[in-house]
Amino acid sequence: MELARYKGVIKRYFEYLPVSEKTPIVTLLEGNTPLIFSPKLSEILGKKFRVFLKYEGLNPTGSFKDRGMTVAVSKAKEDRQVAVICASTGNTSASASAYAQRAGLKSIVLIPAGAIALGKLAQALIHGAIVIPIKGNFDTALKLVLEISSRFPVRLVNSLNPHRIEGQKTAAFEICDTLSCAPHFHFLPVGNAGNITAYWRGYKEYYHLKKTTHLPVMCGFQASGSAPIVKGHPIKNPKTLATAIRIGNPASWKKAEEARDESGGIIRAVSDKEIVSAYNFLAKQEGVFVEPASAASVAGLLKLNQEGYFKRKLRKMALSGKEINVVCTLTGHGLKDPEIAIKTVKKSKAVEADIKKIAKIAALKEA
Ligand code: F0G
Repeated sequence: MELARYKGVIKRYFEYLPVSEKTPIVTLLEGNTPLIFSPKLSEILGKKFRVFLKYEGLNPTGSFKDRGMTVAVSKAKEDRQVAVICASTGNTSASASAYAQRAGLKSIVLIPAGAIALGKLAQALIHGAIVIPIKGNFDTALKLVLEISSRFPVRLVNSLNPHRIEGQKTAAFEICDTLSCAPHFHFLPVGNAGNITAYWRGYKEYYHLKKTTHLPVMCGFQASGSAPIVKGHPIKNPKTLATAIRIGNPASWKKAEEARDESGGIIRAVSDKEIVSAYNFLAKQEGVFVEPASAASVAGLLKLNQEGYFKRKLRKMALSGKEINVVCTLTGHGLKDPEIAIKTVKKSKAVEADIKKIAKIAALKEA
């Protein structure tokens, strides 16, 4: 019975992934997310720019993690594992528990106590993961799961698991397939640095296969209170309201630097204020609701544009006259973190059920 034409990232990109006919595919039909044109951001950047938003919040568990998790959990099952484990700022735990449950595997997630967004916690709990809050931050939790997975029969599904990176590179494939080439610039948030590693790998693979004639410039953004790569040293007590990227010692630090340096790109910091401003901009101007960490990509784009980055960079790139495509990855859905959404906007108080009062608040005049 053929229920759906689209069958998830493993089926779509089978030949580029470490799978075989023997792999039991565990999928929730992740991937195939929209690349949404952003008229407002394109206008801000200028005439020849086209800015697109890769809206990864529309994956089954609401973040890009599902692309990697379908591969990691399918391989865990193929390898006859019975349990998976991860440390998480929230989204990895949500994704791991959904895919593990579907595969009939036990899932164990370690989270920094009190520091993950409500929606993500709800997801891990409802999917039946063993959720263990740790008195410590993400970096401590990651150290613990590394040791646990080396001593106990449980598969690590953080992005140190190479299957995760393999799955996540499919986002770069999709962008190239949609645009018929790679974008000129790719913007994304950086936390544990798995995703920038995965995108760069995906773009390079497509380039070597001649599916794109050029590679993008990779531009990654950390939150300024959690910016170890930018500062050049681990941060002991990382801080930011974008809890997804509150990470002081990223596992894929070196690979992120490679992506930056090989692509001629940058990794910079954006403040929480800039993140919240981009977060509101996306929701109000483009109708796209993302979680705060995701807005770091757009905050970075606006910041670099203001600093004259594109003018300087394009002079060196010999692209005069051509249309410039820019993609920002929006990594997670806004509903993941409803508390921040409600905190950052003005709300009216409860009023009496009176039409006159309502019309006044809504600035409506009778016709
Ligand atoms: N955006 C969101 C919404 C995330 O959840 C993460 C990472 C990132 C960006 C950064 O991606 O780590 O590959 O550089 N979240 C992980 C987690 C750490 O546990 O959910 P990265």
